[in-house]
Amino acid sequence: MKSIMTCKGIAKSYGTGDIVELVLKRVDLEFFEGQASVLVGPSGSGKTTLLSILGCLLAPSEGQLLIADDTVNFSDKSSLTEVRRQKLGFIFQHAQLLPFLTIEENLAIVGRNAGMQDDDIKQRLDGLLHRLELKAMRYKHPAQLSGGQRQRVAIARALLHRPSIVLADEPTAALDWNTGKTVVELLLEQARMEKAVLVVVTHDTRMLPLFDRILSIADGILSEQAQTAAAENIFYTQP
Ligand SMILES: Nc1ncnc2c1ncn2[C@@H]1O[C@H](COP(=O)(O)OP(=O)(O)OP(=O)(O)O)[C@@H](O)[C@H]1O
Ligand SMILES: [Mg+2]
Repeated sequence: MKSIMTCKGIAKSYGTGDIVELVLKRVDLEFFEGQASVLVGPSGSGKTTLLSILGCLLAPSEGQLLIADDTVNFSDKSSLTEVRRQKLGFIFQHAQLLPFLTIEENLAIVGRNAGMQDDDIKQRLDGLLHRLELKAMRYKHPAQLSGGQRQRVAIARALLHRPSIVLADEPTAALDWNTGKTVVELLLEQARMEKAVLVVVTHDTRMLPLFDRILSIADGILSEQAQTAAAENIFYTQP
């Protein structure tokens, strides 16, 4: 299996002087091609913090992040932007589409930022709109779509430039269970098809059995649960 991303001794604290909060103590993790992980933990445990570091949006206080064998240089803003545009796709709780652009334009902009040719962008766009059943939405604006449709556009946008890593922070929090489950299943299916590393933060333990790996954070420590045991445990403890 090809290694795509590695965390080596990553720690993160916020604040200065006497008021320092150590949110992540020491995270050592390796992610492999096509692997889908779910990240769980109580509110305030550091899930968004870790995802932001993986997404090169936030510098760790200690340790290193490697993407495809290259150590990310968090002090070099332009190389960070390049890594984000080329290698990463993001999905947030609310799709965060640009309201004044059509769905097609919202997607095309990601391809242009990644330096893709117009023909390639068009082909990718056609393919993803078809796969995610969004063809009828192509020339609409985000406000004209339902929450579930907007999250499907967010999946297309996260994958358009063929990133090797896709990160999603509570992508279904604003959706009902059925719509949310469909969105996560589509996200998993599409990411696996593209062989991308996928890391999804969720509070919804019912989603856990869908993933290859279960990572949980508590008291600053990240641990990994065995998938089958964890899934059974969750089902037994569900009311
Ligand atoms: N920019 C910041 N400055 C100071 N403290 C921060 C900052 N961002 C997060 N924190 C603190 O770090 C801790 C972890 O926050 P984080 O947002 O990573 O948690 P989370 O697990 O994503 O929580 P939730 O499930 O509520 O989204 C919290 O105690 C939070 O107050
Ligand atoms: Mg969070």
